[in-house]
Amino acid sequence: MYLTREEEAILNGKLGEATASALKVIVKVGEALGAERLVEIPHAHASGLSYMTIGDAGLTFLKSFLEKGAKVRTFSTVNPIGMDLELWKILGISKEFAEKQSEIVNAIIEMGFEPTFTCTPYLIRKPAMGEHLAWGESSAVAMANTYYGGRTNREGGPLALMSALTGRTYMAGLHLDENRIPTHEIVIDGSIELSDPAYAGALGYVVGEKLRGGIPLIRNVRMGFDSIKSYTAAAAASGDVALTYIEGVTPDYEWAIRQASSIERVHVEKREVAELVKTKLDEDVDAIFIGCPHADVDEVLSIYAMLSKCKKLRIPVWISTSRNAYMKLKDIGVIEKLEAIGAFVIRDTCPVVSPFVEARFKSIAVTSGKGFFYLPKMQKSRTIIIPFNRIGEIACEKKK
Ligand code: F3S
Repeated sequence: MYLTREEEAILNGKLGEATASALKVIVKVGEALGAERLVEIPHAHASGLSYMTIGDAGLTFLKSFLEKGAKVRTFSTVNPIGMDLELWKILGISKEFAEKQSEIVNAIIEMGFEPTFTCTPYLIRKPAMGEHLAWGESSAVAMANTYYGGRTNREGGPLALMSALTGRTYMAGLHLDENRIPTHEIVIDGSIELSDPAYAGALGYVVGEKLRGGIPLIRNVRMGFDSIKSYTAAAAASGDVALTYIEGVTPDYEWAIRQASSIERVHVEKREVAELVKTKLDEDVDAIFIGCPHADVDEVLSIYAMLSKCKKLRIPVWISTSRNAYMKLKDIGVIEKLEAIGAFVIRDTCPVVSPFVEARFKSIAVTSGKGFFYLPKMQKSRTIIIPFNRIGEIACEKKK
């Protein structure tokens, strides 16, 4: 691999042992993937920082880098962790877990990461078209590539961390035009209510299952920001789809169309998507979880508008968001109003990577295709998808 003089110097310890070790890893991975050079990145996003998923081995790994003097060299954000840093006791998180999680948090803050704890880093800093990134959260990766026209592979947690510590990634995979050519056109038979993020998530789930890793192209659909966020997260979860070209959405869609003269067509029937979304509950669920990916301020306001019609919720509603959004919502009094009717807003964490969920909820309704994919695996809960636009009616429904 070609390395600049600066990169050679970093490998030889110019910026210390931690940076040198991190760059070595990136070079090795890059070489294995055929990269000819590295590229500087303006934003790294590290995932895999919940103590529930990385355990003591992950904590030891982080500490060892910190001891070697690890410091981030670019703007660096972090994914949700295993608990709300303020509400962990209320969530029933054990003291032992909280201490270990706090050690992880302290280590990454000491390295210079922004304490964002959200899977929506694009709401903290918008990727520019064509910008190279090293992000390690599949839903965020898919949004960066699909919605913003950024360029990032789906990095594993440790590799995104190495990119944060060096400000670089390897030029391979989705950083290169030749690997961004659409592989399949998705043809949707029948009209699906894609303005509802739950249906968009169900579509993403089906597309991911059918493609398993391709690059789909979708013409002529109407999806707003929340629906695209839901679609991309689900397709990334069920099928590792890191980029979809969506007409009228993806900035380099026209370029993609020119590359895709004769690609395979994959049909998705309305029925396949509709049958994943339950408009009525056959039996009760223990909770409704919204905010996978993290709900932004506008989404929480729409949830509040629907729930505020209830005096008291019949089914508790949990909303996960970023601490950034949480503070804004708190300032305008929405957090307290939601709590008053039986809805809880949590920040820093998410139902998939926090231990409080499995301990409390055996059956969960979500509005997310990604949640539908992961909750049964990670929390062993029976999980169904319900329409986002009907959460008010479902949560307030009278018992028969
Ligand atoms: Fe975010 Fe957790 Fe869903 S990290 S995308 S809320 S699984």
